Amino acid sequence: MKPPSLPLRSLALTTLVLFATTLLPEAQAEPPKASKTDKYRLIWTTKPTNRVTIGWNQKEGKPGTVHFGETDHGRNAEAYPETQAATHTKKFDGLHNCFAKIENLKPDTRYYLVISDEFGTSSRFQFLTAPEEAVPFTFIAGGDSRNFRDVRISANQIVAKLRPLFVAFTGDMINKDTPEEWDEWLDDWQHTTGEDGHLMPIVAHRGNHENRPKSIPAYFNTPSDAYYSFSVGGSLFRYLVLNSEIPAGDKQGKWLDEQLEKHSSSAVHLVVGYHKPMRPHVSKKSEGTNPFLWAGKFYEHGVDLAIESDSHVMKRTLPLKPSDSGHEGFIAVENDPKSTVYIGEGCWGAPLRSNDDNKPWTLDSGSFNGFDWIQVSEDKIEIKTVIVENPSRVGVIDPQAPFKDPEGLALWEAKGGTVLTIEAD
Ligand SMILES: [Fe+2]
Repeated sequence: MKPPSLPLRSLALTTLVLFATTLLPEAQAEPPKASKTDKYRLIWTTKPTNRVTIGWNQKEGKPGTVHFGETDHGRNAEAYPETQAATHTKKFDGLHNCFAKIENLKPDTRYYLVISDEFGTSSRFQFLTAPEEAVPFTFIAGGDSRNFRDVRISANQIVAKLRPLFVAFTGDMINKDTPEEWDEWLDDWQHTTGEDGHLMPIVAHRGNHENRPKSIPAYFNTPSDAYYSFSVGGSLFRYLVLNSEIPAGDKQGKWLDEQLEKHSSSAVHLVVGYHKPMRPHVSKKSEGTNPFLWAGKFYEHGVDLAIESDSHVMKRTLPLKPSDSGHEGFIAVENDPKSTVYIGEGCWGAPLRSNDDNKPWTLDSGSFNGFDWIQVSEDKIEIKTVIVENPSRVGVIDPQAPFKDPEGLALWEAKGGTVLTIEAD
């Protein structure tokens, strides 16, 4: 075959050079070296529509900087339009916890990020801010992950597949609150990160096994007493994180009163989460005298759902009203817009206990590892309880149908139906 003429050859060469200079540089460039960071956390405390905190452990050297923006630039830190240096750092238990609080984000917006330090650049992560509009969303609530890492990891892997908007973790992450346990727990939490780098927001609550009051603030940069609140979807949803390990009254009680006064008339759904149950469904557990002080306030202000933990069983109650004439201080009420449904009681890998203390107002209880998977929309809250098993067989959620059971997901067929519905009132 005759070779192409000179002008044609030069055209081909020019095209090749142009292709190489426009398309190949990024692909051919050396990938950046790795940063010395690990144990990533995306933390929600207040105002998650506009504000998140990125937490990590700086293994060596000075705290890195978060590079972020709405466009995915992979691991090319310099290409991201925004940066945020660590706003708070805390050496605790031998870890160098770094927190970058990022403000002024857009609601319901996906952001991409890397952390760069003097050594290099982290993997590329991404996260989603909470919506300001009253659109339906899902979240997961559960706690008590303190002993068995295999179960804990399985639960975390299922969380990644269900991809809720956030996880309300209701305490007792660890058992003896030791550095070794936190080191493992934070590594295991990485299983909640999606294969695409999606970071799962955690809303951290304090349990009795976080027996050092400083642990939760040190690892999750929460307020020092670990009670706080936030809204999702404007007035659609208000969530209050309470701390059952400090007095329910006093400063916390006053704060709770103010919060309920402020939000109960406007919020469509008022939801609270805390560790110690008021009335455990395990007989050997003592009654929750301290959190029970909140029951009257919940009823008075029409709190719709209370999420509890600690007992290592799962339970759902009927809608309840506190009453001196009731069983253990509660009676079941129907069609009372002020009533509260109580769910929980936590098992994400802690030793399972026997659910041997049902009440006349218990809807159902069970002894298995699980968490509650909850969808919030304008007209109702729907709750499914996921049984933690076979994470590899669980399919990934369809983002267009975020509350449709993926293939292989095991759900608790509780009395009253798999889905527990609380209608908006
Ligand atoms: Fe506990």
